[in-house]
Amino acid sequence: MTNQFKLALIGIVVALTASTALAQSSGADNYKSKCAMCHAADGSGNTPAGKAMKAVPFSSPDLVKASDADLIAATKNGKGKMPAYSGKLTDPQIKDLIAYIRTLQK
Ligand code: HEC
Repeated sequence: MTNQFKLALIGIVVALTASTALAQSSGADNYKSKCAMCHAADGSGNTPAGKAMKAVPFSSPDLVKASDADLIAATKNGKGKMPAYSGKLTDPQIKDLIAYIRTLQK
């Protein structure tokens, strides 16, 4: 391996690591600013709005079993009193949000 090639590889690894970190923080940030008022910071739905609208805790067995595609569809299209986010958030943002919600289910 030439030194130049090694440097290029290191550059790619650094870029990938940085973009992953950014994606994670955008899921967490969007969750806190757009979802936590109903779903609560811990995903329990234990907020005044969440209780009034009957937001289901993300740790409920049904939502743990639900596929990412199901949760993405519910976020895009809304469900019950849950508002629809299609057009307000991009597909990658919604994917990041669901990935963040998965971390609240553990
Ligand atoms: C105004 C309150 C409110 C806000 C804001 C809100 N939700 Fe919800 N959400 C709900 C309610 C209520 C339910 C339960 C819907 C039902 O089952 O009838 C729900 C359910 C869900 C579900 C489960 C859907 C299913 O398949 O049962 C997901 C996933 C979800 N919300 C994601 C999000 C995300 C992501 C955001 C932020 C972008 C968000 N919610 C913002 C009220 C809210």
